[in-house]
Amino acid sequence: MRLGIISDVHSNYEALQATYRELCRRGCEKIICLGDVVGYGPSPNECIDFFVEKNIESIKGNHDYYVNCVEKSVEELGVTPNAFRSVEWTREALAPSHKEWLDNLPFTLTRWDMMFIHAAVDTAEGEYWPYIFDIHSAMFHFYFQTTMLAFFGHVHVPLMFSCQKENNCPRPAIRIEKLKEHCFAEETERKFLINPGSVGQPRNRDNRSSSLVLDLETCTLEAIYVQYDFQLTCRKILKSDLPEELALRLISGT
Ligand SMILES: [Fe+2]
Repeated sequence: MRLGIISDVHSNYEALQATYRELCRRGCEKIICLGDVVGYGPSPNECIDFFVEKNIESIKGNHDYYVNCVEKSVEELGVTPNAFRSVEWTREALAPSHKEWLDNLPFTLTRWDMMFIHAAVDTAEGEYWPYIFDIHSAMFHFYFQTTMLAFFGHVHVPLMFSCQKENNCPRPAIRIEKLKEHCFAEETERKFLINPGSVGQPRNRDNRSSSLVLDLETCTLEAIYVQYDFQLTCRKILKSDLPEELALRLISGT
């Protein structure tokens, strides 16, 4: 079976549709999302409807969590003013049934002997959302990764960490590399933590949507980049009350 793994759609309906089409064209029978279905973008309801219609399974990201966390301020959530404005806008825009759908998403999933997380193995039910972006933060994570493969989102950059399976030395050697085609079939000594990048708000200076395909039979991973109509998404942002900077980020891919 070929599995499509996406993350951080962020209410970007155009990017979601284009990515879904490409993953289907590449033979994916199942698609899993690593969270942040909503936030930042202009089409939260359309994206959730699409997830339900296409049976895309998701875990809960920090933005999915914030939508139902009405009592907390910018400081308490620890987000930027633009992110907070987008949380408020998304809360207003979302249908009540869609808020409930987000509230019911699990924080993590383990399937096919692989872990799927948004920010970290344990976010204390939404209390904190750390970033795994360097060797030190990855090292901390690997102590808790019990499977050979784990997938995470949140940083919006396609990348792959790996380290020796046996954590019997205090500072295991960790590698960090750009996400590219990789076959895990012969890998017996290392475990991997992989980020597919972001569908709806990439931050790797490439404005294409980013995702991956994992072939469970051949244990081969492929990074997928898809061009989509970002100008349409930008126009929708500019027509809404969302901060203008959120449109500029889609153009620059940052
Ligand atoms: Fe995100």
